[in-house]
Amino acid sequence: MKMEEFNPDRPGDLVDPNTGWVNRRIFVDSDVHAMELQRIFARSWLFVGHESEIPAPGDYVTRQIGNDPVILVHSSDGKQRVFLNACTHRGAMVCRADGGNSPSFYCPYHGWTFRNDGTLHSLADKPEAYKNKINFEDYNLVQARVGNYGGLIFATFDEEAPGLEEYLGNARWYMDLFFKRTPNGAQVLGAPVKWVANMNWKYGAINFAADGPHALAAHGPISRMAIDMPMEALIEIAKNGPAVRMGNGHGCIFVPGPQGFPDWTGFDPQMVPLYQQTLSAGQISQLKNMFNGVMTVFPNLSWVHFPVTLSPKKPPINFFNLRVWQPTSASSSEIWAWFLADRESAEEYKQQSLQLGIQTFTAAGTFDQDDSEAWAAMDAGSRGTIGRQRMSSFQMILASEEDLITDFPGPGEAYHSTYSEMSEFGVLLKWREMMQG
Ligand code: FES
Ligand SMILES: [Fe+2]
Repeated sequence: MKMEEFNPDRPGDLVDPNTGWVNRRIFVDSDVHAMELQRIFARSWLFVGHESEIPAPGDYVTRQIGNDPVILVHSSDGKQRVFLNACTHRGAMVCRADGGNSPSFYCPYHGWTFRNDGTLHSLADKPEAYKNKINFEDYNLVQARVGNYGGLIFATFDEEAPGLEEYLGNARWYMDLFFKRTPNGAQVLGAPVKWVANMNWKYGAINFAADGPHALAAHGPISRMAIDMPMEALIEIAKNGPAVRMGNGHGCIFVPGPQGFPDWTGFDPQMVPLYQQTLSAGQISQLKNMFNGVMTVFPNLSWVHFPVTLSPKKPPINFFNLRVWQPTSASSSEIWAWFLADRESAEEYKQQSLQLGIQTFTAAGTFDQDDSEAWAAMDAGSRGTIGRQRMSSFQMILASEEDLITDFPGPGEAYHSTYSEMSEFGVLLKWREMMQG
């Protein structure tokens, strides 16, 4: 299948909602990428950090909103704020550290200083030198809208975007299973690990929304080692696990354990009563036999949660890995990945979860290496003059559209199989809508 001519006035046409064909140009073309930064990243609520990263007044971390650097700060007046990391004098970044604690940010060029609530504090010269010709309030740091759901802090500079709750919509029910399942919620286990991958950001977002069949092909050998389950059983559960298209581009899969898989495998047993007290019966029914939970919040926030053991003698423990797919060009991304755990969980459990997580996911993790190879291969095969004229297939949707689970407890559309491509294609339907403008 060959592409239609690319019409820059209608970039959304590169995704055909009816046939499941997707023009490969959307993954490799720098013009499309530039449009995405404007039409998607500058208009969506983007994840900038978890509240446990900035617990005390003055704590800050530096992040990205699309291709703009920002500072997420717990300001001295107790608010979570996000600022464009650019001096209002001439635009120099006012903070170059990954994080820290500070009452103010100091511009390295002419020395203007801003309080951590964004207000201008001091200038190179005395304010009187401006002879009342300027309004200093116009020189406060540029502040984004900020929202917090379940400890996850999102921000956008778009005044027209809907509120965060509306933006997340149905995704909230599923987010609760991971971030709001105990009274105190989740916490990060340290700073994010960052690495560069030769891939378009959407490969990651789509994969985590999520791609069932790749697990066996790309991760076969390591799956057998880390999950200790025969290949046939893994295929069976992936085929029979629900894929949920939540709307607004958010999607997930829940792969339940195979027959005889004990409830709460891999969870800290001490947390189970807290889950039961915090979540609804429908949410508990999904969580208790969840073997593999993988989700994307549009556009570029994803997480993965499942039990692993790297020693046959030890029972599996869940790790919980959150990441953003940070766009740096059409064919490259930075992946920023955190590990999380329930705040109330025992320290020893958290440490084991972190260690197993690092061995399996993040830059040195076996699963991430498998995925990175596959995504770089897609980039290489699609980037060339001929390659970018071809289409990528999500045509399994044609066979799956009717395959709804009618009594699924969560909101959105749940389809019977993680092989359905329905939740993955949901990401591209939202992409299409936003790119069309
Ligand atoms: S650019 Fe920041 S003080 Fe001049
Ligand atoms: Fe994978």
